Amino acid sequence: MTYRKRIVEQLLEASSEALKRAVAPYSRFKVGASLLADDGTVLTGCNIENPSLMLSICAEKVAIVKAISEGKKNIKAIMIKSSKGDYCPPCGACRQLIAEFAPEAEIYLAGKRGIKKYTIKELLPDAFKKD
Ligand code: THU
Repeated sequence: MTYRKRIVEQLLEASSEALKRAVAPYSRFKVGASLLADDGTVLTGCNIENPSLMLSICAEKVAIVKAISEGKKNIKAIMIKSSKGDYCPPCGACRQLIAEFAPEAEIYLAGKRGIKKYTIKELLPDAFKKD
């Protein structure tokens, strides 16, 4: 198995596990995310909703803030999976987070029709950035 294939399988497994921990009683749309840091650490996130709906947090945002708060500066890959089997492309706010904190990451979307791979430049061209 190639290195990349192994990473994708590892992240798929981690995102599937994270999906089970999603708290989505309002949308009923569960999302699991995982990421790989350059030291080999895999961190996960799930969406967490709140009755005050604006407080709901996306799965990939949870994973990214966990990584940053743990000092993982170089995020190599991110995988997002939803409970419906449809692809769950990151929302606009999460794209902005990825552009800032994981600009080089390979972004994988898992769905029932397989796995799609993107870069943040494809998902958020001409991103607003500090430079
Ligand atoms: N959601 C994510 O977790 N990630 C995304 O990129 C898109 C949306 C969550 C937020 C909310 O809990 C549910 O999906 C429906 O919008």
